[in-house]
Amino acid sequence: MNSQSPASEPSYRLSQLISVIRNRRTIRSYADRPIPQELILRLLLASKASVSLDWNDSVARLIYFNSQQGKRKAAGLIMDAYKNQKLYKWLPKKLNQAMAERIARIPAFLAVIRKLGPSSQHNDRNYAAISAMIQSFSLLAWENDIGIVWNTDPALREPSVAAGLGLQEDERIVCLLYMGMYDKAPKPKARTAIAQKLTHLAP
Ligand SMILES: Cc1cc2nc3c(=O)[nH]c(=O)nc-3n(C[C@H](O)[C@H](O)[C@H](O)COP(=O)(O)O)c2cc1C
Repeated sequence: MNSQSPASEPSYRLSQLISVIRNRRTIRSYADRPIPQELILRLLLASKASVSLDWNDSVARLIYFNSQQGKRKAAGLIMDAYKNQKLYKWLPKKLNQAMAERIARIPAFLAVIRKLGPSSQHNDRNYAAISAMIQSFSLLAWENDIGIVWNTDPALREPSVAAGLGLQEDERIVCLLYMGMYDKAPKPKARTAIAQKLTHLAP
């Protein structure tokens, strides 16, 4: 990004960075090939470096699912949790299973877990920093042909999901990232112009 960047990192121009930010889209269908795990690790390390989150306090942790067994377990937990939500209450068992299988076919999931601290100020700060890290990760992933859905469905906060994932009493799920390599990107989306959201205080 600047002259101090390590030689192994791509050198960036601002226009390239803006293009990644502007063109990134949520990807919901994935190519059949696996995501190289070392790439995921590399992108996670870089996204962690993009925020001032002190991991020495164990404020967050990640669970990566890419085995069939792990993904099936997670997909089952998710669908069971959906069943407790109004919309899915009456879903026939067969459809529920089919949806679980569909979720399990997604190449990988990443569960982002935060640890509650001594005050709401501490928790808010960490939640914000973790979210910023996820945003960095989704941009880096996009640039490396990995598509992502950032999932924050209320069903994920069902106690059965926390128990199934082995969360401690003081841990909460922030989101589940569904991800996979993508071949075809959706067109860039029109965004609300920031000028519409900007208020000038009278001098
Ligand atoms: C904080 C956050 C939470 C999200 N939660 C969900 C979710 O629970 N389920 C889902 O399908 N998509 C979720 N998304 C993805 C949005 O649906 C997606 O970003 C939106 O459709 C805009 O599309 P784009 O990312 O291609 O611009 C979330 C995105 C963000 C930034």
